[in-house]
Amino acid sequence: MCGIIAYTGHQQAAPILIDGLRRLEYRGYDSAGISVVSRKKVRTWKASGKIAVLESRLPESINANCGIGHTRWATHGAPTDENAHPHNSADETLTIVHNGIIENVDALKARLGDVEYQSETDSEVLAHLLSHTMDLNNCSLVDAMREVLTRIVGTYGIAAISSAESEKIILARSGSPVIIGIGEGEMLAASDMSALSRYTREVVHLDDGEVAELTPDGFAVTKLDASPADKSSMTLVNNLEDYDRGGYDHYLYREIVDQPDTVRRTISGRLDKRFNTAHLGGLNMDPRDLLQVQRIKILGCGSALYAGMSGASMIESLSRIPCDAEPAAEFRYRNPVIEANTLYIVVSQSGETFDTLAATREIQRKGGFVLGIVNSVGSTIAREVDGGIYMHAGPEVSVASTKAFTAMLSVFALLAILFGRARDVSPQRGAQLLKALEDAPDKIADVLALETHIASIANKHAKCHSAFFIGRTAAFTVALEGAQKLKEISYIHAEAYPASELKHGPLALVTSKTPCVVILPESELLEKSLGTLEEIKARSAPVIAVTDSDNSRIDKLADDVIRVPRSDELVQGMIMGVALQIYAYHSAVALGRDVDQPRNLAKSVTVE
Ligand code: G6P
Repeated sequence: MCGIIAYTGHQQAAPILIDGLRRLEYRGYDSAGISVVSRKKVRTWKASGKIAVLESRLPESINANCGIGHTRWATHGAPTDENAHPHNSADETLTIVHNGIIENVDALKARLGDVEYQSETDSEVLAHLLSHTMDLNNCSLVDAMREVLTRIVGTYGIAAISSAESEKIILARSGSPVIIGIGEGEMLAASDMSALSRYTREVVHLDDGEVAELTPDGFAVTKLDASPADKSSMTLVNNLEDYDRGGYDHYLYREIVDQPDTVRRTISGRLDKRFNTAHLGGLNMDPRDLLQVQRIKILGCGSALYAGMSGASMIESLSRIPCDAEPAAEFRYRNPVIEANTLYIVVSQSGETFDTLAATREIQRKGGFVLGIVNSVGSTIAREVDGGIYMHAGPEVSVASTKAFTAMLSVFALLAILFGRARDVSPQRGAQLLKALEDAPDKIADVLALETHIASIANKHAKCHSAFFIGRTAAFTVALEGAQKLKEISYIHAEAYPASELKHGPLALVTSKTPCVVILPESELLEKSLGTLEEIKARSAPVIAVTDSDNSRIDKLADDVIRVPRSDELVQGMIMGVALQIYAYHSAVALGRDVDQPRNLAKSVTVE
């Protein structure tokens, strides 16, 4: 998704802006640009395509100490040079970058009258409005910004500079993250911590409805009515600067192999062996509150939603509290009934996904209590929820989620143990569950050791056009994420179906050319699932069984078997899921795909 970087200070701005853009690359983008104020003039360069194209267009040296940069992920208008940000005012005295969407762009353009637009974007209108307001009111850029924003309908993270105030950057936020980085004799801003962490560890998050002025020596934040906003800084914990591919070809691969450590980090300090339960400090719920919960509703998008679906099944089966998961956007648009005794849980790696944030606010507006399961410390969702559990997965750079997904499942396992022990689960069973969770990292390491075998199966089927992922109850949620991973990074059409639904439609598409990945955990439903395997075999489809069972019928029926270590049902999904990640990864590599930045996708979707 779009990214913003801004710099003012004692150093040359352009190299810092380009470096910042590179650090934002992982979010997904299709064009990029920078603007600086040099010798009292705004100078702008932009290009569609990768940052290297932009760099090739820059002059050898750019003497400027203040500037802004942007990576664009097209929403309004194709990914062309003209549509790339920054966008200048007609007289080229000011320039802006914008993340988000301006919904009333037509009304704003009508009001502005006769302007020659250089792009098809909604964002460009901001530059013209600011310039028009500065001329009309004879005011500074920050005053114009506050005035213009009262007329904007939509979402924005904005950075703007002008030739009149050559050291100053103006920032604004509503619904799209903007973070200020405090340096010594220099100030930065970005839409994402990863672009700042090389330069500073001291950051300030802007909140919605705030406008900031940065100069090399400091910052001032005001609200739209010009009253001062009280802000405090926080120190970054993760050292994002050291995070790289770890010597591998792709971040995704590193993130897959990181997972034993990820789970260890997520559960560390949270296993309460004295009472055989989980210890989760940030919940803001005491045991009495836990007992009041009569229903749990989990909300998220993409892989976070699928983690939520797995989590719902873990929590419900251990605690017997009715629990389900729903796409955050669907939930918020259906005018949901918010119940006093329902616990709402939002799940998000980035903590910035627009729909998940909007659902959080809608629930809170109606008086509901929202818990957040979030990876990114200090992100908007983390700051706005009523209680929370950090995932501690560390940075995740590849667009397709792997280790964050597994960390989400680990948090849900902890929550399931906590709610289970608050209700039916005995201390003995509690101890077994803690042990299962504690052993999960080693079992994930055993799955990683199956890589060559899994890669050979993936290579065999990489040329297929379509694949099915089949599972029953909890195994269906594993299938959903398995199909998601394959389609995201290999572009093979992949669908997940509950085993029981196969004969109600999809079986019509099952042929010798559609590999079927069947998730077969050892359980009382195994025999039933073997029946499904027979149905698939009868249509000559290649069957890949992913199982922790040693039932010999599986070996007879399946063309290939990925046998993972046996584990408690609480962690089965987490362990089998890793095998499916490796399968998707090798399919994508075999097809030569851009594994870390798949087409059309963004890491953090901060627009609706
Ligand atoms: C995007 C990413 C997915 C991610 C989803 C939710 O679509 O491409 O990988 O699962 O957003 O992101 P979140 O940060 O809320 O977990």
